[in-house]
Amino acid sequence: MTQYAHITGWGMAVPERVMTNDEISRLVDTNDEWIQSRTGIKERRVADAKDTTSSLAAEAARQALEVADLAPEDIDLIIVATSTPDFTFPATASLVQDALGAVRAGAFDLSAACTGFIYALGVAADTIKSGSAKAALVIGAETMSRVLDWKDRGTCILFGDGAGAFVVQGSESPGGVLSVLLRSDGSGGDLLSLAGSGRPRAAGLAGFLDPTVQMNGREVFRFATRVMVASTREAVAAAGKTMADISLIIPHQANRRIIEAAARGLDLPEEKFMINLDRYGNTSTASIPIALCEAVADGRLRPNDYVVFVGFGGGLTWGATTVHWDVTPLPAAATRWHQVGRRTRYGLARVRSFGRRVLRKVEGAVFGSPTAKEDEPPKPPGSKK
Ligand code: COA
Repeated sequence: MTQYAHITGWGMAVPERVMTNDEISRLVDTNDEWIQSRTGIKERRVADAKDTTSSLAAEAARQALEVADLAPEDIDLIIVATSTPDFTFPATASLVQDALGAVRAGAFDLSAACTGFIYALGVAADTIKSGSAKAALVIGAETMSRVLDWKDRGTCILFGDGAGAFVVQGSESPGGVLSVLLRSDGSGGDLLSLAGSGRPRAAGLAGFLDPTVQMNGREVFRFATRVMVASTREAVAAAGKTMADISLIIPHQANRRIIEAAARGLDLPEEKFMINLDRYGNTSTASIPIALCEAVADGRLRPNDYVVFVGFGGGLTWGATTVHWDVTPLPAAATRWHQVGRRTRYGLARVRSFGRRVLRKVEGAVFGSPTAKEDEPPKPPGSKK
């Protein structure tokens, strides 16, 4: 039977701490008027000591599970799109898997900079359509504030922290994710980058500092407006739809002027675009799912609408997807008991995680080194001693 990939849950989490433009103007030579007129950003959320990429991701995921009315053990796959993982490994997705108690799920991180959420949604939808998974969590989560150069006014004004999550589920009824377009042009990699550990560091003091986001703002701006228009058109056509069928476009929230230019390029009124970057800045992979949550809450996206998600970012990467928003929200009363069950499970997940760690230590102490003589696997017959 043909499987379709439907978005059945969504959630978001942002740090409590709000950082205004005025606050940034005390760190670098800028001001609220410049930032608002050039970007549309008024404020952003910034992680404090207790927030991590994985903690924000897990909170967004819990909310998405509530909306979908699923238990953590119903999830087969967790993908976290992020450029700011807690660790290079373990994957942030594995930390989320453990925090939720999603004991049947595979988990991995995906890196495609700010386009990561579209890539992750595409991979999850295809895995579901192929029948390899029934339910997936797709998460975009970032703590960009930890990789910004707070002395560089060209970048530190733009970004913010947060997380957004979708539950994607398979069903035989047509709809859901209709088309996915993913693209990359690595020749523009130097225009927007964050160095990793596999790259030789420059000699001298800079080599000892933590890497920060480096960007050529003007070039990225030009690239972004071009690819948003082209990839939106392509993704809509690939879904067998026309622009007139599309009720809402949820673009990556980087800069209001980029969205305005895309609206002109697509010959659409700005009201067709969801914009909430004034309150969050550019939260990278989290921006599209956060904007989706607010679009649903504000009634801007209604059941049976067609919606386009379109993103771009470092790589260079870009992508777009057309979705039939064929969502029927569950009545709250029907989920109350499930809610209690889920909360209990999250508590149990913490106990289970702690228990497994203790057990591993006890096993290590009792059985000693796994490479000790008596534990050696038997040699194949005929092999030398
Ligand atoms: N405050 C005040 N002045 C600033 C400033 C700031 N925060 N940042 C730059 N300027 C100055 C520049 O130094 C320059 O001064 P000069 O003319 O004396 O040299 C002037 O403002 C214009 O700089 P420019 O880079 O042309 O500004 P811009 O209109 O292109 O805006 C960005 C800069 C970064 C806001 C804009 O290019 C942008 O948003 N680009 C896309 C970035 C993006 O979205 N990245 C993430 C993609 S996922």
